[in-house]
Amino acid sequence: MAEAAYDVVIIGAGPGGYNAAIRAGQLGLKAAIVEKGPTLGGTCLNVGCMPTKALLHSSELFEQANNEFAHIGIEVKPKLNLGQMHKSKDDSVEALTKGIEFLMKKNKVTVVTGYGKIAGTGKVEVEAADGTKTVLETKNIMIATGSEPTPLPGVAFEDGKIIDSSGALFLPKVPKHMVVIGAGVIGLELGSVWRRLGAEVTVVEYLDKVGAGMDAEVATAFQRGLTKQGLKFKMSTKVTGAKTSKDGVELTVEPAAGGAAETIKGDVVLVAIGRRPFTAGLGLETVGVTPDARGFIANDHFKVADGVWVIGDVTHGPMLAHKAEEDAVAAIELMVGKAGHVDYTLVPSVIYTSPEVAWVGKTEEALKAEGVNYKKGKFPFAANSRAKINHETEGFVKVLADAATDKVLGVHIFGPQAGELIGEACMTMAFGGASEDIARTCHPHPTRSEAVRQAAMGVEGWTMQA
Ligand code: FAD
Ligand code: NAI
Repeated sequence: MAEAAYDVVIIGAGPGGYNAAIRAGQLGLKAAIVEKGPTLGGTCLNVGCMPTKALLHSSELFEQANNEFAHIGIEVKPKLNLGQMHKSKDDSVEALTKGIEFLMKKNKVTVVTGYGKIAGTGKVEVEAADGTKTVLETKNIMIATGSEPTPLPGVAFEDGKIIDSSGALFLPKVPKHMVVIGAGVIGLELGSVWRRLGAEVTVVEYLDKVGAGMDAEVATAFQRGLTKQGLKFKMSTKVTGAKTSKDGVELTVEPAAGGAAETIKGDVVLVAIGRRPFTAGLGLETVGVTPDARGFIANDHFKVADGVWVIGDVTHGPMLAHKAEEDAVAAIELMVGKAGHVDYTLVPSVIYTSPEVAWVGKTEEALKAEGVNYKKGKFPFAANSRAKINHETEGFVKVLADAATDKVLGVHIFGPQAGELIGEACMTMAFGGASEDIARTCHPHPTRSEAVRQAAMGVEGWTMQA
């Protein structure tokens, strides 16, 4: 039998795929990566993490210039140049996707542009845009095809009117009234962006809590904060239909528990009710693989069949870029006989609103449901000197630890730079650390990180500053 040309062919060049390619290159594997899109980087770099963070950053500065600068003695009259804001975002995205091209070259990874389809064990057929087909022979196939927005029945996507997150990244003008369906991560991040830029924003959510599974105490404070900023919420409500006209969209909604229907009119509707795995035309049947009922490809230590592996959004676990990256490194290391492992219970979540929300580990509700005896320490940013000086006093840190062993079980932060602060909680928990470990570790003053330490001190019963 002829020697396979590649050790691994990766299908999809998002954070899962490109990190797998880099690790494969580092470990001396001959790797190719197949991408159907015009640029590398997948959802995250092109229409996900990075462009949303660019718009969140710019719109937050706009809001600060409008509402906060005068208070600290800076008088300006900001004027929105949306075209330039989009250009700045697009330039950053381009620089990042070019960076991935550079990393592929540096790690000697062959980039193949086209639609990848598994054509039996050890074969990936790639169809280029002009219809040309090439077959890549490989010892291993790595599926990293990611996810796509979940559509809402009865609310069909329509350009510029009923849009998904990608549409909301490129709106050419600020909507008068944006209706967001889904108070999860996308709805709250992109809803915040357009509200800051001048839109009235109404969020319709099926559940009675925002934040798709976050700790309930945090969710309540978070929703209160967003409401103060001007977001409107219609909770415990389901959308049953949509009608579009030249003036916009009319949604029919009713209480989730049943009841009288009403209508909500908006010029733009953003559907953000979750994402689903993307496996269209992948040829899974040629290697005897069937996705589960929800479309995910199940795996056993990232393996799905002989010589076939899967990572990232298309398989189980949180649908996050850093989880895809962890999967990638672990799967490639297992492929070469090393001991790759990912602990999904320690994957942090961050919502990049202002203030941010970040958490890792168990919520209080989960601990109660599991009957775990836990201690709780809570510290408000209103008592943190750096937050006070910077006028960022909204929110708190909550540390949950095992009542008997003091092992940290969960950390929940609603407050300034929560996403940066959660790292030390991840590290502590990865080492199986105790709350006292955080409480007895010297933290720099004056920083927001002292609030994390003070919350951990609270678990021990000796908070110093509140
Ligand atoms: P993807 O990034 O989706 O990449 C899959 C790639 O495979 C795509 O480029 C696709 O074109 C390609 N592909 C698919 N099928 C084929 C095929 N048959 N042949 C060739 N190519 C194929 N996560 C975070 O951690 N932090 C954030 O701040 C964050 N913000 C987000 C904001 C938005 C608006 C969205 C939508 C998502 C966000 N995410 C964020 C989630 C994050 O983008 C995903 O979890 C991450 O991109 C998953 O990586 P992946 O490699 O599994 O898949
Ligand atoms: P999500 O799962 O975060 O939130 C979806 C929300 O929609 C939930 O609150 C859910 O209850 C609600 N919902 C579902 N069906 C509904 C219906 N019919 N009517 C009204 N509400 C309904 O999903 P989202 O926001 O679409 O994000 C998708 C994925 O992208 C997430 O898994 C997230 O991890 C990832 N992402 C991550 C970001 C980050 O890390 N900062 C930013 C953006 C996305």
